[in-house]
Amino acid sequence: MSKITDCLVKDGYTPLLDKVLIDEPTLMSRVAELGAQISKDYAGKVPLLVCILRGGVMFLTDLTKKLTIPHHIDFMAVSSYGVGARASRGQPRITLDLNTDIKNRHVILVEDIIDSGHTIDHVLRMLQTREPASLTLCALLDKPERREADVPIGYLGFTIPNEFVFGYGLDLDEYCRNLPFIGTVKKEYQ
Ligand code: PRP
Repeated sequence: MSKITDCLVKDGYTPLLDKVLIDEPTLMSRVAELGAQISKDYAGKVPLLVCILRGGVMFLTDLTKKLTIPHHIDFMAVSSYGVGARASRGQPRITLDLNTDIKNRHVILVEDIIDSGHTIDHVLRMLQTREPASLTLCALLDKPERREADVPIGYLGFTIPNEFVFGYGLDLDEYCRNLPFIGTVKKEYQ
């Protein structure tokens, strides 16, 4: 059992939490702004929001509630990391593909975080071959200091520093995705 899991199971997340980086009201207010902007930009269209599991799920469910235009949702899963600190571990792999044909559709990819950019770069390239009408990335968090692949972010929630973050979809050893805020992990647990 890792030090993080050990702590989470015994004492919860509080001993691991260094600070709340983005609190719930700030998250909700930004998600509402993004929803309003997307509703305006896609007026008259029926976009397909594609959530990248599992990290993007909280963001997707809150964002979809803020859209005032008709739209569809679908899900994909991409595996790029194992348990523990987020360090790149090879080529991303699609582990769950879409059920929707995206040819001629306006697709918005909904992702929790862009770190090195390799995951989303891989997904964007793969989806582009299916000839969508448009393909735009909507990311909650951007960590530009870590970027290795140049990816265009159409809609962005927050730019954050190079810190180990968790909560609101982002996991700590697969725990804590349910927390309603984004927190950082104490150095001794990283
Ligand atoms: C995280 C996150 C992104 C990716 C970002 O996913 O949700 O998909 O890493 O990193 P990158 O920009 O360096 O590629 P993870 O593989 O941890 O899976 P999860 O969403 O199931 O937690």
